[in-house]
Amino acid sequence: MITCKSRSELLLMERATRIVQEVLAECVEAVRPGATTEEIDRIAAAGIKARGGKAAFLGYRGYPRSICVSVGDEVVHGIPSSKRKLREGELVGLDLGAIVEGYYGDAARTVGAGKVAPELDQLLRVTHEALVAGVEAVRVGGKIGDIGAAVEAVATRHGYGVVREFVGHGIGTALHEKPEVPNYGPAGRRETIRGGMTLAIEPMLNLGAADVRVASDGWTVRTVDGKASSHFEHTVVATAEGPVVLGFGRYSREGTVPGVPGFHEYPAAASVRSGAVA
Ligand code: MF3
Ligand code: CO
Repeated sequence: MITCKSRSELLLMERATRIVQEVLAECVEAVRPGATTEEIDRIAAAGIKARGGKAAFLGYRGYPRSICVSVGDEVVHGIPSSKRKLREGELVGLDLGAIVEGYYGDAARTVGAGKVAPELDQLLRVTHEALVAGVEAVRVGGKIGDIGAAVEAVATRHGYGVVREFVGHGIGTALHEKPEVPNYGPAGRRETIRGGMTLAIEPMLNLGAADVRVASDGWTVRTVDGKASSHFEHTVVATAEGPVVLGFGRYSREGTVPGVPGFHEYPAAASVRSGAVA
């Protein structure tokens, strides 16, 4: 069953996703050569707790940490470890979920540790562009397949591999709800998008081939060809006025502002630390 959320439910999801975006900004600040991925997990766990949320991933199907940190050729679900030090030039995917009063928010960003090669910088920029295209394809009366077709079109234009084994998802009172939201088309297929549907859209694009493999830890997903991968995710609500990306204060009691945040609109960790936590 696909549920459409009420206004009060959406306000809780906005709060949960707001926490995710603010804490992701703090984690981004901690991404630098020499930092361990476990340090980033500590920041994530503390940041969610300080804001009154609950970590959504910790204990989910036995996942052992609060955040997924996927480095280099890791696509998603990298497990933070004290043994994994970030190196200059690596791409670092940060994927975080939080729960507020039983409602979930889920978002991800990929950034570079130090200075990254132009080819990797382009991969992460295009992945964000693909996410934006996917979000903009969320239209009441449209189809779920429209989202993936939009993501895929951006990826294909740049020759990137689109991961097929892992997909976006409905989200609400569970991290993963129906429907599945693949990052590929065709458009005009799959479920009809209705007002109040909440979707986690999460393109995973590979510099090389699309093929991925799960490591022996049962979680870490890597590219088969060993080339870099990038991942961005937003939790989005379909409204009659257009898609609203949760976590940026655009869905509020006062009114709703549709539109998709760009890089420059991600919250800055500094303002969060100085006490500007809503
Ligand atoms: N954003 C990812 C997803 O939607 C994160 C899941 S990681 C897990 O699937 F640990 F919670 F499984
Ligand atoms: Co997700």
